[in-house]
Amino acid sequence: MTYKDAMFKDNELSGKVIIVTGGGSGLGKAMTKYFLQLGAKVVITSRSLERLENTAKELIEETKGELFCVACDVRHYDQVENVIAKTLEKYSKIDGLVNNAAGNFISPTERLSANAFDTILDIVLKGTKNFTLACGKHWIKEKQKTSTILNIVTTYASTGSAYVVPSAAAKAGVLAMTRSLAVEWAKYGIRLNAIAPGPFPTKGAWDRLLPGELKDEFDIKKKVPLKRVGEHQELANLAAYLMTDFSAYINGEVITIDGGEWLQGAGEFNMLEKIPSEMWDMLEMMIKSKK
Ligand code: HXC
Ligand code: NAP
Repeated sequence: MTYKDAMFKDNELSGKVIIVTGGGSGLGKAMTKYFLQLGAKVVITSRSLERLENTAKELIEETKGELFCVACDVRHYDQVENVIAKTLEKYSKIDGLVNNAAGNFISPTERLSANAFDTILDIVLKGTKNFTLACGKHWIKEKQKTSTILNIVTTYASTGSAYVVPSAAAKAGVLAMTRSLAVEWAKYGIRLNAIAPGPFPTKGAWDRLLPGELKDEFDIKKKVPLKRVGEHQELANLAAYLMTDFSAYINGEVITIDGGEWLQGAGEFNMLEKIPSEMWDMLEMMIKSKK
């Protein structure tokens, strides 16, 4: 067994209906595939119906699962309400929501137009708010007792990051919303958690964050203590755990899955990794001689 393998083997999500925003590509697609393999009925949504339908065809063939596509721009509350209405029409209930859709690109902040900044805030923060509010209202009205929201953030939701400032601000807002509602909505049986992934190569992210030669110039693996990037299945494993009742006592938590990347950047003396092992005898002597 390795980190590339599926963690659960049986029907741990059988009977559950889960909405995954941005489920047609990248990490959303990986989570959708695994949820299907575990027996969930999954509703995927994003702006491009064509992309959703291509993904659905592929995943239904592969998993024999039940997958339903509804196009929606998460920035518009009426479109979000439509996804919920269509899901209820088809499956009569919703058990889980994964807020995964996002927009992002690198840029010096002073180069951004006001609209460019708003675009990222609107997709990430407002989009997550739209789905969270609409699902929450539904669950509270229906007195449904076990519902789960999983928000996909980033490690820089906590630390901040230069050159992706709208995304950092929006993801920090999503994290604050996760922790706040985890307390406020616990009485309704709604659990909220977040995953903060480090680098997991996807076309969507890499084209916008490491365009052209930047991919070669910044070997992202070198920033990670474990010297590798994430595998989609290991993120899907964690997401599936957080969507099942095995994690019923985890609420308001953000789980980082980044091979130690952000801590590598944060630790004051982590740069000492560069010191060759043969130099440590000499350094120890120098330090002891100062007594
Ligand atoms: C400066 C830019 C820009 C860029 C767009 N804009 N790209 N400004 N630099 N590279 C500006 C536009 O000029 C416009 O402003 C405004 O942003 C909106 O652009 P549109 O193209 O009209 O927006 P839209 O069609 O809604 O597309 C949204 C998008 C696009 C975010 C710009 O990239 C997209 O669809 N992204 C979805 C997928 C995605 O981003 N995936 C990556 C997620 S990775 P003006 O003023 O001209 O009107 C992630 C975290 C990864 O989130 C962490 C890794 C470790
Ligand atoms: P991705 O493939 O580009 O996924 C983004 C998805 O969001 C797309 O399916 C896109 O579909 C959808 N989307 C964008 N704008 C939308 C809108 N206005 N309304 C509805 N859907 C919209 O990138 P990814 O890497 O898989 O990212 C998935 C999540 O992981 C994001 O939350 C991202 O911030 C997070 N993350 C990724 C990494 C990484 O290394 N990959 C690291 C940390 C966090 P359409 O274009 O069809 O709308």
